[in-house]
Amino acid sequence: MNFLRKVPLPRTSNVFSRPVFRSFSSGIDASKMTTTLTTQTKERIPKEDLKFGQSFSDHMLEIDWEMKDGWGAPRIVPYGNMSISPAASVFHYALECFEGMKAYKDADNNIRMFRPDKNMQRLNSSASRLSLPAVDEDQFLECIKKLLVVDKSWIPEGQGYSLYIRPTLISTHPYIGVAAAQNARLFVICSPVGPYYPGGFAPVKLLADPANTRAWPGGTGDTKIGGNYAMGIGPGQDAIKKGYAQCLWLFGDDLQVTEVGTMNQFWFWKNKETGRPELVTAPLDGTILPGVTRDSILKLCRSFGEFDVTERQYTLHEVMDACTEGRMIEAFGAGTAAIVAPVNGFTYLGQDFNVPLDSDDPSAMAGKLTMRMADTIQGIQYGEIPHEWSVVVPEN
Ligand SMILES: Cc1ncc(COP(=O)(O)O)c(C=O)c1O
Repeated sequence: MNFLRKVPLPRTSNVFSRPVFRSFSSGIDASKMTTTLTTQTKERIPKEDLKFGQSFSDHMLEIDWEMKDGWGAPRIVPYGNMSISPAASVFHYALECFEGMKAYKDADNNIRMFRPDKNMQRLNSSASRLSLPAVDEDQFLECIKKLLVVDKSWIPEGQGYSLYIRPTLISTHPYIGVAAAQNARLFVICSPVGPYYPGGFAPVKLLADPANTRAWPGGTGDTKIGGNYAMGIGPGQDAIKKGYAQCLWLFGDDLQVTEVGTMNQFWFWKNKETGRPELVTAPLDGTILPGVTRDSILKLCRSFGEFDVTERQYTLHEVMDACTEGRMIEAFGAGTAAIVAPVNGFTYLGQDFNVPLDSDDPSAMAGKLTMRMADTIQGIQYGEIPHEWSVVVPEN
């Protein structure tokens, strides 16, 4: 019999306050790790030719869970296909959640991670929403670090290069019934990636979509579950066909802006009432993903103390007004893949709105704050700017 108790996680933001069900049965124990090395290393793509998410490192991490006994021993194995029952409820009811994080190689050949504890917390928040088992955050992170050491040679060197890490938790419960998983698998695969903007920043135009809603109060928008992404693909493709890079996601009759594509959205404008510069983004009200990059940008900008930084619900009407009244300074999306993605315009119901990049430099491809965020966060990630957010992975 499995006894479950609710353990409230110590979280600072509301989205992380969701109770996580922890089992009294075995937790993840990194010291029980077994490692089976590949006998055939894969062909390596020259780093300049890497495409996001298309090639994978030599090894993967797997940890199985079952209701009665909890987590089994973690194992590092050669990267390869998995054998899973076609009845597994991941295939039928999308019982799946995942994370996205990166490992970087610094100038001294150290492996570094950026705020990985945040990804571990968010994975548990997502798992809890799907009644998937909770992960022992520290121990799972230890396992990931061991995988990084094994596949260190797959972390490409140089600014903008990294190893994208994809922890994934799926229900392997072979049961065609809508029910909580009794078996699950946690696995991690890694993909070497290059800079998001190999040729320098390329600003994008967005389609503000009043028809398709990504997330709503009480929904799952604050979790990283596969279903949130599946339903965004159709509208995203439509936007691309019309010549836009991404959907700007809206919610409600008053057109609250939530996110952009798979990023958190920021606007830097002059506040209508105060006239002061203000960085605005949507709050963690359950409809947006609590991005690690978002949190980092908010903390950095607050530490500068140079302009107002506001997390609040705001509407597309406010954004359109800021553009037409000449108060918009710049705008960007934020996420692990790109760090920041400059936005130079959007369209709503056929009406185009221009968003400035850098009013002092007509040739600029990104705004000053956008570039400052990219430089600062990248500097921290590669250990060039000393900061507690950058974690060196021990190698012995
Ligand atoms: C929907 C969504 N919003 C925001 C983000 C940005 O989150 P992070 O900064 O943690 O990568 C992501 C990327 O994972 C995302 O998928």
